[in-house]
Amino acid sequence: MSKFVDRVFSGVQPTGNLHLGNYLGAIKKFVAMQASHQCVYCVVDMHALTAWQDPTELAANTREVTAAFIAAGIDPKAHIVFNQSQVAEHAELAWIFNCVARMGWMNRMTQFKEKAGKDRENASVGLFAYPTLMAADILLYKATHVPVGDDQKQHLELTRDIAAKFNNDFGEQLERLGHGEQFFPMTEPLIEGPATRIMSLRDGSKKMSKSDASDLSRINLTDDADAIAKKIRKAKTDPAPLPDNVDDLAARPEADNLVGIYAALAETAKEQVIGEYGGREFSAFKPALADLAVDKLSPVNAEMRRLTDDPATVDATLREGAARAREIAAATMAEVRDIVGFIRG
Ligand code: TRP
Repeated sequence: MSKFVDRVFSGVQPTGNLHLGNYLGAIKKFVAMQASHQCVYCVVDMHALTAWQDPTELAANTREVTAAFIAAGIDPKAHIVFNQSQVAEHAELAWIFNCVARMGWMNRMTQFKEKAGKDRENASVGLFAYPTLMAADILLYKATHVPVGDDQKQHLELTRDIAAKFNNDFGEQLERLGHGEQFFPMTEPLIEGPATRIMSLRDGSKKMSKSDASDLSRINLTDDADAIAKKIRKAKTDPAPLPDNVDDLAARPEADNLVGIYAALAETAKEQVIGEYGGREFSAFKPALADLAVDKLSPVNAEMRRLTDDPATVDATLREGAARAREIAAATMAEVRDIVGFIRG
């Protein structure tokens, strides 16, 4: 038996254009975890700042992610929803972790290499330190499970490395203070399955992305029914009808993606969808998919609009969530200060 309570933590960056990929791949999963775990969901505005953000847009995007969480069915009273910057302990623990993590570990982070691109000299120091802040997010709450995309796997491994090194480096002190051997847990990632990897509507080999130049490539959570239907109608496909078994989707990325989207929205398996639409033309499948998408996304969209029109309520939700997050975070930080030898006054 682990001494840690089952607790889920995850974060979403408020960098604009929340889309179907975020909804099916992340947010819907966050909603489902509420039944079995205590959940802490964080809008990671400090992470967003690792790349330039227009201040007005950062605030608007923070409210939009919060609105999406709530509209999708996350209960901010039963669980915790807040924005990272309101809980100063995230930055404090990140500093400690900057002193635990090794340059060699950080230099291996592929996301930094991708995001910094060729001009590494011009990347922010924050972008390089991004993974230690992420580890702090998770470990402040001693979270045992983190639902994330496949691209975050390496950051989760780093989080475990940091936890293990901290537990080890301060082992004697942990013993002395009665914490046993493990102060931080070995957090498990819950990685999205291939079924929830939503690809671009214009190119089945690329992930649906907020930064794709073509707005037709993604369904934004702010799109209305007409926009959703239009984007599905215009989605790239091949000329053949849908195959009558799932294996034959493997060589047809666009068809596979649309079937996957249908299955995820209908909360069923691709086999079911193929059972119903195998052998049918896209001219028959696309309208069915559009109806389903509108049906599932319109209520989320409407509730998001209602909430974004009422920023005071959203801000109050974040404030209350932050107060509750801070209680847990402050308790962990107080322990950490004692462990590392900081005088608390
Ligand atoms: N890096 C994550 C992403 O881009 C966001 C994030 C920040 C996060 N802190 C986290 C995810 C903690 C899970 C847990 O998707």
